[in-house]
Amino acid sequence: MCGIVGYTGHVQAAPVLLDGLRRLEYRGYDSAGVVVQDEGALKMVKANGAVSHLAELTGGGRALEGVCGLAHTRWATHGAPTDTNAHPHLSEHGLFAVVHNGIIENFAALRAELEAEGVVFRSETDTEVVAHLLERYYDGELKSAVMRTAARLEGSYVLGVVCAREPGKLFCVKEAGPLIIGLGVGENFFASDVTALVSRTKNVIYMDDGEMAELTPERITVYDRTGRETAKSVSHVVWDIEAAEKGGYEHFMMKEIMEQPRAVRNTIEPRIRGGQVEFEGFSMTREELESFDKIVITACGSAYHAGVVGKYVIEKLCRIPVEAELASELRYSDPIIDEHTLLIAVSQSGETADTIAAMRECMERGARCLAIVNVVGSTIARLADNVIYTHAGPEIAVATTKGYTTQLAALYLFAVWAAGLLGRAGGERYDGLIASLRALPSLVQRSIDLNVHVKYLAERWHELGSLFFIGRNIDYAAAMEGSLKLKEISYIHSEAYAAGELKHDTIALIDEKRLVVALCCQSALFDKIVSNIREVKARGAKVLGVAPEGNRRIFAEADDVLFAPRGEELFSAMTEIVPLQLFAYYVAAANGCDIDKPRNLAKSVTVE
Ligand code: M6R
Repeated sequence: MCGIVGYTGHVQAAPVLLDGLRRLEYRGYDSAGVVVQDEGALKMVKANGAVSHLAELTGGGRALEGVCGLAHTRWATHGAPTDTNAHPHLSEHGLFAVVHNGIIENFAALRAELEAEGVVFRSETDTEVVAHLLERYYDGELKSAVMRTAARLEGSYVLGVVCAREPGKLFCVKEAGPLIIGLGVGENFFASDVTALVSRTKNVIYMDDGEMAELTPERITVYDRTGRETAKSVSHVVWDIEAAEKGGYEHFMMKEIMEQPRAVRNTIEPRIRGGQVEFEGFSMTREELESFDKIVITACGSAYHAGVVGKYVIEKLCRIPVEAELASELRYSDPIIDEHTLLIAVSQSGETADTIAAMRECMERGARCLAIVNVVGSTIARLADNVIYTHAGPEIAVATTKGYTTQLAALYLFAVWAAGLLGRAGGERYDGLIASLRALPSLVQRSIDLNVHVKYLAERWHELGSLFFIGRNIDYAAAMEGSLKLKEISYIHSEAYAAGELKHDTIALIDEKRLVVALCCQSALFDKIVSNIREVKARGAKVLGVAPEGNRRIFAEADDVLFAPRGEELFSAMTEIVPLQLFAYYVAAANGCDIDKPRNLAKSVTVE
């Protein structure tokens, strides 16, 4: 959700903060603000709109003098996106400024209490109570004011705090949500994501829930909930700032689509040693694996769609029952889960609140949890018993592309590893699967190369009212993701449907204005999906088929065709999604949509 940055050092803070904010804008982009400490006062500028607007208002930050400050980019939860509701929020007498990511659940009670004492609130946000509490508890000792304030708060939050009377000093507090400290030379930072820090330092500390940190230009001190100093290890970020920049592409989404062959290779290759799948931080004996009577995959959004693909592939290869569950549902379902359940939590960001809550619920019931995560050091990665990192590099576009395909890669690796361990795939079949895994990066590249006409098709179809994506089995799982991609960036309504289910109800919506995207990459089910294509065509719909390269029969059935290169059919979701990502991109571009920052969305959903 929101993005926060803090800086204390020797150079003017505001330009550094704005640079960090620009890199966090994917987390929320309805308003932004910056505050700096200068000669015993706090100077603040905040405004509705993008970070670029804030930069214009402050002359790129040059107008705000001071070497210590905070900044924020917002995804509104409490109160509309207005100038007043934008962060930072000041305390009554301007002594404190606060930026916040998350939700203060008991803010209404705290607000009533403060109002009864005469405090006048300026905004509708939950955050403002924090600023007023800090001022109420401040008796010349910042740490104790922060601790007493934090003790009053319920909910999930990360806070950044600056006080006019404490030159060069910042505090940050973490209680759910990402918070990373950056260690510089004569300067220190904190931020919601390493992308905001890597242009100035690659040495970072990942903060844990219940911790707070005090930053000055020379020193970082981390405390636990009781105020005791805690030793933290310093990690080194392995990628460069270029990875978080557009590299000549108009949008991050297109750059990330094009990066998929490399990202998938980075996920797969290091895990294949001597012709076998091996994971670095994760192993199990056959007996341990056999002790699980089921696998539950949980996630949200596209990561859930990857989980649905995983269910088909793991069940097929391993013959273990697999459930794919939306994390937001699983957490409240009183799930039948115990120590005989292997939970697989899938998340690009590693910070999705619902996924974290579902993990906690299942782990309390005894499940062992394996996380498939992209962001190193994220909450999900640290909470899980074991992690398979996807190594996709930073993903900035709100619509995930390489995040999703690398999640598929990790799930395929897991499925092949488990099938080998259980003796369900051995000899030639196992070797064939390994070869198919290794072929995937080139097949993803071929999928990009084969579909140069997708731009033309998207421009032809971009004025769509509402459409359907249909498929069976793995194609259905991929259809869910194809549909989501189109919806989230083009704002065109679409629905994914199991192709055989259409005739039971939704066929009532099919008419000559409808486009149906039919995914046809499961050879055993090809004739079945052809029947469904004919059903919708008979009712006037136009059909865009997604078919294996070289399949000529599809030309007789569909009006237009996109191609997926042939490879192991079990892994076809990875290649057939690529033209659909491109289709969504070009439809959104033709409709003039803000592709990287679709309306109402944020990259990382850290609230329930
Ligand atoms: O970071 P996560 O993988 O946990 O995020 C899950 C979803 O929020 C995410 O996949 C979302 O659906 C994307 N916007 C889809 O492109």
